[in-house]
Amino acid sequence: MSAILQVTELRKSYAGVHALDGVSFAVEAGSVTGLIGPNGSGKSTAIDCISGFQKRDSGEVVLAGNDITGLPAHQIARAGLMRTFQTVRIYERLSLRDNLAIAAQQFDPATWIDEFLRTRRYRQAVDKAEVRARELVELIGLKRYWEIETGILSYGQKKLVALAAALMPHPKIVVLDEPVAGVNPTRIREIEVALAALNRAGETFLIVEHNVEFITNLCHRVIVLDQGKKLAEGTAAEIHTDPRVLEAYLGMTPEMAEAEMRGAA
Ligand SMILES: Nc1ncnc2c1ncn2[C@@H]1O[C@H](COP(=O)(O)OP(=O)(O)O)[C@@H](O)[C@H]1O
Ligand SMILES: [Mg+2]
Repeated sequence: MSAILQVTELRKSYAGVHALDGVSFAVEAGSVTGLIGPNGSGKSTAIDCISGFQKRDSGEVVLAGNDITGLPAHQIARAGLMRTFQTVRIYERLSLRDNLAIAAQQFDPATWIDEFLRTRRYRQAVDKAEVRARELVELIGLKRYWEIETGILSYGQKKLVALAAALMPHPKIVVLDEPVAGVNPTRIREIEVALAALNRAGETFLIVEHNVEFITNLCHRVIVLDQGKKLAEGTAAEIHTDPRVLEAYLGMTPEMAEAEMRGAA
């Protein structure tokens, strides 16, 4: 049991709406954990509060033993929790290589003085970043686009570039907000394969996603939110057969869900 992220009794209201009503969960180091739930159940609020993009009312967030509750987003990122966004944020005019080089410099200890003087520290930082970037690009299956402008890539591939950029500073965990929303169904599998490969290489992910098949294929553990509360938690198989989850999230009876899963298989 080694939780890299521990969220305890997180609460957040907007003008009387309890978006989060005391949510607790943990993410194990090296795992892929899914956060699912119907629209309005509090998923976005949860990851916004965890990553410092939203102020929580109460509750605690601990990352690798360090209390990061209430820190500003850039300090949380520096502490090792990175996130990707639903809208892709990459430099489309720059190559994949340059996108990742820029991502590396974000938290780089080398200063502009180091860069100007081309100090040993600067060269070492650049060399290390290049090794990391090449590893990541291999793992996400985009090696052939190394020197290519990222603007020509498909939407799904751009999402992978944003993910690789988030991974450049060796975060302890990456939180992904709907990684396959808006991605062409034929490309969803590419993202799934990339995330699985990155996870095998040791990366830890917390994924908010609507696509149940995607979550089922990828996640070791799934947390289900409903109306700002944790409704259930377990393996994907456990979640799939939990009548409360089926009703709240899928709006299905167990029989309907089973038929659906047979259809998907
Ligand atoms: N900025 C906001 N102002 C007011 N209400 C909000 C705001 N953001 C979210 N909510 C409300 O909080 C609840 C949870 O929303 P959200 O976290 O976006 O859920 P999800 O991401 O699961 O769809 C919903 O009832 C939503 O209407
Ligand atoms: Mg949302």
